[in-house]
Parts: sequence; C-alpha cells; structure tokens
Amino acid sequence: MSRKIGVKILGTGSYFPKKIITNIDLEKKVKTSDEWITTRTGIKERRISKKNELTSDLAFKASLEALKVTDILPEQIDLILVATITPDMFFPSTACFLQKKLYSSISSQKPAFDLSAACSGFIYGITIARAFIKSGLYKTILLVGAEELSKITDWTDRSTCVLFGDGAGAMILSASDTDDDILATYLGADGSYSDLLFMPAGGTANPATINTVETKLHTIKMDGMHVFKVAVPKMTLAGKKALELSGKKLKDIKLFIPHQANMRIIKAVAKKMNISMDKVFVNIHKTGNISSATTITALDEAIKSGKIKSGDLVELIAFGAGFTWGAAVIRI
Ligand SMILES: CC(C)(COP(=O)(O)OP(=O)(O)OC[C@H]1O[C@@H](n2cnc3c(N)ncnc32)[C@H](O)[C@@H]1OP(=O)(O)O)[C@@H](O)C(=O)NCCC(=O)NCCS
Repeated sequence: MSRKIGVKILGTGSYFPKKIITNIDLEKKVKTSDEWITTRTGIKERRISKKNELTSDLAFKASLEALKVTDILPEQIDLILVATITPDMFFPSTACFLQKKLYSSISSQKPAFDLSAACSGFIYGITIARAFIKSGLYKTILLVGAEELSKITDWTDRSTCVLFGDGAGAMILSASDTDDDILATYLGADGSYSDLLFMPAGGTANPATINTVETKLHTIKMDGMHVFKVAVPKMTLAGKKALELSGKKLKDIKLFIPHQANMRIIKAVAKKMNISMDKVFVNIHKTGNISSATTITALDEAIKSGKIKSGDLVELIAFGAGFTWGAAVIRI
C-alpha cells in the first residue's frame, strides 16, 4: 500500500523595500487627496523599490527570512517556485535569478520556475506545491510571491497609481508523515475578463515600440469599478468553496486573510461570507495592493505579530487579473 504524504508548512518570511510613499506624497504627483484614497481604498502608504532593486532581490530577502525561521538550508530545497507578474525579465525566470542568489557558493541545479496568476498567484502556488509534494516528486519547496508593481505603474494615472506597491513573501513547505497543513485549495479563472485589468504591451500582442512606450502601454490598465464588481462574488465563491472542501466551518477558522486590493472589497466579501471583521486580517493601509505577494506577506505579518499561532486554521482568499481567483484553508 502506498504511503500517504502530508504537507507541512515549515515557515514564512517577508521583505519590503525601505522607501515609503504616502498618500500625501501622491497628492504632489497627481490630482488626488489622502481623503479620497483612504475612503475609496483604505490605503495610506505603500513600499516602493529602488531602481536597481529587483523583484528577485525582494524574493531573495524574503526567502532568507523563511530559511532562517525554518532552519532549512538552501541545499535542502528541491524546487523553487516564484509567483509574479513583475519578473526581473521576461526570461530567464525570476525563480532562476533567485536560485542564483540563494546558491552563490554552491551549484544547485534544482528546478526553478515562475507562475503567472496575478494577485491569485500565491494561492495557485500553494496548490501546485501541495500537488508536487503529495505526488512524491519533490520533498521541500520554496514558494515565493514577489512583485514590483511600482515599475509597471503609470505614475501620472491617478486611477491606478494610488493602488499598488512592492514587496515579497516566502513559504517553505515540506513532505510530512504526521502533518497535513494544507487542508484544501480551490482555484478558478475566466479569461473573458482579460481586458479589464492588464498590461497591454511588451508581449507578442504589442511588442515594444517607441509608440508603445510613448503611449504608456507598458503600464497597468484597469477598469476599477468593473474589477470591483467581479472581485466580490468571486472571492466569496472561492472562500466558501475552499472551506467546504476542507470540511471545516467558519467558526473553525481563526483568521481570514483576503487579498488586500481595496478595503471596501475586503468588507464586502466578509459581509457576504458572514465573517465578522475582527476575524479578518487587514494591512492594506501599509502596503497597498502587492498582487501575488499580498496574501503571503499578510500571513507572515499575522504570524510574527502573534495574531495567529501554531495549530491555528487560516483561510487565504485572492482575486486578480485574468480574472483569476482562489482560496486555501491552511494550518500554520
Ligand atoms: C479604483 C477604485 C478605488 C475607484 O473607486 P470608485 O469608487 O470605483 O471610483 P470611480 O472609478 O467610480 O471614480 C470616481 C471618480 O473619482 C475619480 N478618481 C479616480 N481616481 C482618483 C484618485 N486617485 N483621486 C481622486 N479622484 C479619483 C474618477 O476620475 C471619477 O471621477 P469622475 O466621477 O469625475 O469621473 C475602485 O474601483 C477599486 O478599488 N476597484 C478595484 C480595483 C482593484 O482592486 N484592482 C485590483 C484587483 S486585484
């Protein structure tokens, strides 16, 4: 009889660039106000990377923190997975750049690749990591969500530039005979919404030209109100489905960690799921939306701040460009 493999979450880490841009700073760049941004989004400030600070640098620092917490050595990692929509380059993958940084003194040659599912990237990543470990293919996986959205933001467009930020979070997962910390995940996508939140140029649809640069097509374009309207039901659906698949009830979950895109979306999802806001983790005021890095950095903060402790059940819920959505019920 084949042995059932469980998945243990060994630990998490995160890293944010030092530079902070506040709403007051943005008032000097575009026609906006702290009051507008705060009431419409809940965001007060966001972290912004330096010009020469790359997504893989943030991923590296978050990974080092996770390694430190878990006492895992880089050479014990069998696979590196990076969820990002703001890679260092189209290719090689940011996961390969991260591998080079992690193993500067030894040759790793372990597999490494990126996955692209926008703000749901980390939930997609957990699902992939879990499947790889349970299949017996890899024992220990470093999963990272890392973004530098500031570098694909049009800083003259007030409707988007107030929303996004930079950061990275990491999780180390390993095979276990005794624990199974990922109780359930649920994923969804609907490509028919692809033109509501996207970066038009740089890929094969619109290769870079002087015109694509001059017309700022290498930056985030979004129909905010439409995104809002789809995000709420899809996050609610994902939250309910993952919970159902886990066999747990709302009352069993210690903390809900929704994607931090907009405080009003977070509140609407909590209301639809019938969760009281004191069980919902919020750090959007400090970070803005950092896409695939959001749920993992929020989880890391919730752990480090003592809001949740070993053994607690947590549900991560995300939604992003694609559209993509997903949720995961995990034990930390
Ligand atoms: C972007 C978002 C905050 C806008 O809030 P909203 O209440 O929908 O606002 P609207 O888009 O209806 O805009 C209302 C007005 O504010 C203006 N406005 C937009 N951005 C502004 C800003 N930063 N400061 C001041 N005014 C702004 C608009 O131009 C519009 O003005 P008008 O009525 O004169 O045309 C909101 O739609 C949202 O958060 N959507 C979801 C986005 C998201 O989460 N994306 C990522 C998903 S992973």
